[in-house]
Amino acid sequence: MYAVTVPEPGGPEALVWAEVPDPEPGPDEVLIDIVASAVNRADLLQRAGLYPPPPGAPAYPGLECSGLVAAIGPLVTDWQPGDEVCALLAGGGYAQRVAAPAAQCLPVPAGISVEDAAALPEAACTVWSNVFDLAHLHALDSLLVHGGGSGIGTFAIQLAGAHGARVITTARAAKHAALRELGAEVIVDYTTEDFVTAVRTATGGHGADVILDIMGASYLERNLDALAIDGRLVVIGLQGGRAAPLDLATLHAKRGAIFATSLRSRPADQKAAIVAAVREHVWPLIESGLIRPVIHTRVPMAQAAEAHQLVESSEHIGKVVLLAP
Ligand SMILES: NC(=O)c1ccc[n+]([C@@H]2O[C@H](COP(=O)([O-])OP(=O)(O)OC[C@H]3O[C@@H](n4cnc5c(N)ncnc54)[C@H](OP(=O)(O)O)[C@@H]3O)[C@@H](O)[C@H]2O)c1
Repeated sequence: MYAVTVPEPGGPEALVWAEVPDPEPGPDEVLIDIVASAVNRADLLQRAGLYPPPPGAPAYPGLECSGLVAAIGPLVTDWQPGDEVCALLAGGGYAQRVAAPAAQCLPVPAGISVEDAAALPEAACTVWSNVFDLAHLHALDSLLVHGGGSGIGTFAIQLAGAHGARVITTARAAKHAALRELGAEVIVDYTTEDFVTAVRTATGGHGADVILDIMGASYLERNLDALAIDGRLVVIGLQGGRAAPLDLATLHAKRGAIFATSLRSRPADQKAAIVAAVREHVWPLIESGLIRPVIHTRVPMAQAAEAHQLVESSEHIGKVVLLAP
């Protein structure tokens, strides 16, 4: 088969479409003939040599894919060859085939094409596990989503809205109209506006009950200022750096909690539990049309370098899908 390899870490040009050995499914894995994958920010770091795949994961980038089951391992009972699936992967999605744990596969939701389903697993699992399972967002709560135009952000806005939460988000002005259409109530241009003031104004001084943060250090102090009493800050990205002073007095006064999580490094049983919860709680919302994958564009997988350039530029809204030949 062919896959997007990274012979030497570097810029987008480091991605090379090359012939590689076919994967073999393990006893509890399914072999997927890949139709599509999608680009995640983490893939850019992996390509640059800054985020190596966890032990045992395929060497090629790609944290999610969709396609047809080609074969199953002897312990697999819930999938059959020919089934249309999408899967959460630890790597290897930028390829024509991948062996995925059966428990990390999901059916392609009714009403969604196999291609577009590739954009769902990483965002759905990340948002469900952090915003709902961990931070317990409830109806009428206020959620602050940083980077609302990202693959994660576009999904978080919709999922929170579908649960009756109020969504405040940050994004550059060019993305505001699209995010309003997805259900964001207040959209802050972080380049010209202070999001703490915007959150306080929007919530009558209450603050954000939950914050989904992708910036880390550069937003820590302001996130704590924007947090409500009993609020939960979940840091899933460090785009603004890793080290910042933490004012514990502010956290005490707010009885606040800070979580920092990573999906890719979780053990298989935790990923299986998240995927099962997503199938139960999120898939029906997609099938009913309340939530949709937001696809910015689709690019042939062999041209993954172009897709990485686009995501690096942050001009995209939602996901960039890679189509396997
Ligand atoms: N921990 C986990 O398990 C996990 C899992 C998945 C993703 N993530 C993280 O989640 C983040 C989003 O991932 P993705 O793949 O969806 O990324 P993406 O589509 O590449 O989006 C990155 C976003 O960052 C925004 N951004 C840049 N500077 C910003 C700032 N100062 N304030 C607010 N937003 C800013 C950009 O929006 P503008 O164009 O508006 O600047 C862009 O939409 C990444 O940091 C990724 O590492 C973590």
